[in-house]
Amino acid sequence: MLKYLLGAILFLGFTYCRAQTDLTLVPGSSGEDVVDACIQKLSAISLFSNDYGFLKRIALVESKFGSNSTVINANPTGGIWQITTKISQAISNSTILQAILKQTEIVLGSDIIDFVDGDFRIPLKSALAARLYIEYVQLTEFAQIIDIPGTVVEQANWWSQYYTSNGQSNYFKTTVTNYENANRCTVSKMDLYFLLDGSGSIGPSDFQQSLDFVNQLASEFNISSEQVRTGLTIYSSSNYPISQFDQHQNNSAFSDAVTNTNYPGGGTNTGEGIEFVRTTMFNTSTGMRPLADGAPRILLVLTDGQSGDNVTGPSAAIKADGVTVFGVGVGSGFVENEIREIASDPDSDYAFGLSQFDQLVNILKDRVSVQACKIPALIPDDTEVPITIDSGDAHYSEVQMPTNGSIELSYTVTTIATATVYVSSSTTNPSSAVFDFFFELQFGVTVVTINSGETATSAVELVSNTYASSSSSISSRKKRAADNTMTSYPVYVTVKAAAGDQSLEATVKATGSNTRSKGGTASGIHKLSWMTALILALLVWILSVDI
Ligand SMILES: *[C@@H]1O[C@H](CO)[C@@H](O)[C@H](O)[C@H]1NC(C)=O
Ligand SMILES: *[C@@H]1O[C@H](CO)[C@@H](O)[C@H](O)[C@H]1NC(C)=O
Ligand SMILES: *[C@@H]1O[C@H](CO)[C@@H](O)[C@H](O)[C@H]1NC(C)=O
Ligand SMILES: *[C@@H]1O[C@H](CO)[C@@H](O)[C@H](O)[C@H]1NC(C)=O
Ligand SMILES: *[C@@H]1O[C@H](CO)[C@@H](O)[C@H](O)[C@H]1NC(C)=O
Ligand SMILES: *[C@@H]1O[C@H](CO)[C@@H](O)[C@H](O)[C@H]1NC(C)=O
Ligand SMILES: *[C@@H]1O[C@H](CO)[C@@H](O)[C@H](O)[C@H]1NC(C)=O
Repeated sequence: MLKYLLGAILFLGFTYCRAQTDLTLVPGSSGEDVVDACIQKLSAISLFSNDYGFLKRIALVESKFGSNSTVINANPTGGIWQITTKISQAISNSTILQAILKQTEIVLGSDIIDFVDGDFRIPLKSALAARLYIEYVQLTEFAQIIDIPGTVVEQANWWSQYYTSNGQSNYFKTTVTNYENANRCTVSKMDLYFLLDGSGSIGPSDFQQSLDFVNQLASEFNISSEQVRTGLTIYSSSNYPISQFDQHQNNSAFSDAVTNTNYPGGGTNTGEGIEFVRTTMFNTSTGMRPLADGAPRILLVLTDGQSGDNVTGPSAAIKADGVTVFGVGVGSGFVENEIREIASDPDSDYAFGLSQFDQLVNILKDRVSVQACKIPALIPDDTEVPITIDSGDAHYSEVQMPTNGSIELSYTVTTIATATVYVSSSTTNPSSAVFDFFFELQFGVTVVTINSGETATSAVELVSNTYASSSSSISSRKKRAADNTMTSYPVYVTVKAAAGDQSLEATVKATGSNTRSKGGTASGIHKLSWMTALILALLVWILSVDI
């Protein structure tokens, strides 16, 4: 009872911060959010391929994301990745790495790329040094930038041989495995479709391995009408639909359908395959959910060879429809540029080139399930979208901001739970490490108005016009479906539920306008009547007493 009263009382308080924050640039910052944000920034540079989780695991093993004070006190200038003189000198001595380093300057700034001072307290600088050192070892030991180690075992061996001065590979394996088992992200809701190459060049046994990959990946999610919907089409010279989103709505039914799939052989019309699933499968008539349901839309395209037709148009069209696309090339016959064209940006998160089919299960499965957790759901205008978040988990979404107007976000929380909302126009997964501003959610209703445009003056001015005009690279990643005619750019919103509460049930509604809200209201943020909240609180209390 006290808890519920407390909920009602707490509701009257309100925390709001407008200051732009970027802890990846603040010396001595630590924590998982900081590490994730550093890695995301490096991905966005698109000089590097996917690191298969290696950088994050090194940060965990070396310094517990910078929070192990014993380690940090012993070598404070090494930062989160514990960069040693050996590492920084190796990078300084290599002309190739110096050239790569120089190329990152325009994105990261001159402070980050100055390795001469040997001070890696700035998290992003520490991350960059670790990432470059991985390339350095691949170059010097293997004479080429080959695939970096992909499995935990390979990474553990690599780490003990080249990175750490005194670590055992078993320590790496145990630390990483324990941490990742205890901190697995779960996707509560998504529409995930698979488009697999069934052409003659693959052969029956590798085709079977791609089916195994689909099955093993799907088994990580709860397939049901309400949670994760999946489907599969095989393509070669023609398209062979195996399952549509509303056809196999539990794990065993989907798995049976995948297992019983025949290998067709034939050509490789990847463009036609993508266009087929775009029009036929990403379609509410076959079970794709409307945006109002809040399920992110994801396609995984897997091929072993060069497409026989043009993939440019279909790839652009499906991404413009709001589908996030993983592009996967396997074997030695695929064309890297084609995979990059198929995949969403940034390529290092969504484009994969693997040399062996067994790497689908051994490496790719984990990468896709980790990345899938971070793909934002598109929130359409004027529609109440439900969100459910387990305590301690995060929910990612994307709203469309008019370039010269405002957007009102209205959250209604119906459980006794608290959350922090981080908003950013520059990163797809804002967090406590990187955000433009944040505010708190509690049981009840919270409304926030975000203004943009040249004349915006109110407190919650998220972005200036300069930002809006320079955001074209972001907005080309994904655009609202054709029903949206507003000139707009994406703003990303993370709702991070507090740990320890019950799960957070809420709805969010975004109302966009092309004319900025009047008068630049002093705060721009207001709570709806606290009476409403009190009534809701009483309702919850009454319901809980009945149970
Ligand atoms: C911190 O690092 C030291 C030295 O590697 C290690 O002995 C200790 O267990 C670590 N502490 C934590 C909390 O991980
Ligand atoms: C880098 O160069 C310095 C001085 O030129 C040398 O002392 C050092 O051993 C070199 N380090 C590596 C890792 O090559
Ligand atoms: C699947 O659902 C069960 C029961 O609701 C839940 O305990 C489990 O965590 C869910 N698993 C995933 C991967 O979402
Ligand atoms: C799974 O779905 C199939 C139909 O697609 C149905 O026949 C079967 O009973 C379901 N199994 C469970 C355990 O719900
Ligand atoms: C969805 O499917 C219907 C019925 O097959 C079709 O008429 C419509 O064009 C499809 N929508 C898209 C966007 O392709
Ligand atoms: C593929 O199509 C795009 C436009 O859709 C065109 O610009 C490009 O030249 C085509 N590529 C080839 C190889 O035909
Ligand atoms: C932006 O909106 C303001 C207020 O409605 C208006 O005065 C101004 O002309 C608009 N600017 C552009 C570029 O549309």
